[in-house]
Amino acid sequence: MKVFRGEILHFIEDPAKFGIEQSYQYFADGLLIVEKGLVKEVGQASELLASLPENQTITHYQHSLMMPGFVDTHVHYPQTEMIASYGEQLLTWLENYTYPTEKQFSDEEYGKKVAEFFLEQILAAGTTTALVFGTVHKQSVDAFFTVAQQKKLRMICGKVLMDQNAPEFLQDTAQSGYDDSKALIEKWHNKDRLQYAITPRFAPTCSQVQLNKAGQLLAEYPDVYIQTHLCENKNEIAWVQELFPDSKNYLDVYDNANLLSKRSVFAHGVHLHDEEWQRLAETDSAIAFCPASNLFLGSGLFDLKQAEQHQIKVGLGTDVGAGTTFSILKNINEAYKIQQLRGEKLDPFKAFYLATLGGATALDLHHKIGNFSQGKEADFIVVDYYATSLMKNRIEQCKSLSEKLFVLAMLGDERHIAQTYILGERYRSSRA
Ligand code: GUN
Ligand code: ZN
Repeated sequence: MKVFRGEILHFIEDPAKFGIEQSYQYFADGLLIVEKGLVKEVGQASELLASLPENQTITHYQHSLMMPGFVDTHVHYPQTEMIASYGEQLLTWLENYTYPTEKQFSDEEYGKKVAEFFLEQILAAGTTTALVFGTVHKQSVDAFFTVAQQKKLRMICGKVLMDQNAPEFLQDTAQSGYDDSKALIEKWHNKDRLQYAITPRFAPTCSQVQLNKAGQLLAEYPDVYIQTHLCENKNEIAWVQELFPDSKNYLDVYDNANLLSKRSVFAHGVHLHDEEWQRLAETDSAIAFCPASNLFLGSGLFDLKQAEQHQIKVGLGTDVGAGTTFSILKNINEAYKIQQLRGEKLDPFKAFYLATLGGATALDLHHKIGNFSQGKEADFIVVDYYATSLMKNRIEQCKSLSEKLFVLAMLGDERHIAQTYILGERYRSSRA
């Protein structure tokens, strides 16, 4: 048994549903009790201390906030090395930077090196679970899962399907994409804490036959995930309309191939029509809101209020390498500004809900991670308010929890993630 004492926050509901006060639990002096890697209990220290054995060791964190690990619902590990590439919007950015970078992942050893670096980066930023793109190469996913398994992480990944409108060196075929994905599902899906996502890159790089085969694969393995991109950029959307003239809209291309499900996660959704919002809701599909990426590529301003009104599951995604940071805190900062530009407010409680339980729910993992309910996997972080003098100074002026959370999101980054715990164990960098 392991016991942690300090300030604790976790969510039990979406603040948009029954109001902010009903959405979270907060203990100014709390205890988190972990047994065999799972949460045994959380509550007020004053109430729980008496129940502990007399000689129990307690790890006490001062001027810090313990919360569940962040969930990144959309990220590309192979793009780690081309983060911050200058000057393009989506389609030319893919051609000029992304595709040449992804070519290198035909080499599994190279993939393992990048996966190791990527996972160190996200853990240092406080992210403990992510839905991750590989490349077209089957080896890229073997590499990723091998490293994630060694680290005992809960991760979802998939091999990219792309059989048209991309460089020859990065294309599969409808059949080879199906076969490779199936082999990876058999090998990795539900192994330890790893799960598989069927990963059509986006409609323009997938033939109808390939999309249909992805749908067929989902029908064969109904509990795997679907991850892809949707309505990110206006030129992209126009291209999809040209390529699929019979579809009603962008989402309809995926719908026609039976790719909408409660385990389907669509990245971006920046320019959605009413019909698409409705269809996402009907099928219980989720959206990955990728603030830093949407600003970096000049894609647009995500309409979080529409998502709330349609009761669509939303998580936050860093979308590295189009996103410019692995930090979910920094993505909350960007999300806040996006909502400002829309004339809306992103409440700090809602923001931290999205980063934790909201992300877990978007990934249909809310029964495993996302908060400190009894039996959940104890992946959590310790955020240190005093890690930088600017935040320390500002936090000391705060009069409410809401204000503290807002300051944390506006001023916070990797420096403030003091600890990352995986299944109740303090994660130690393999390169420390
Ligand atoms: N659409 C298709 N591929 C990609 C990608 O790698 N990144 C982003 N942001 N959008 C895409
Ligand atoms: Zn992406």
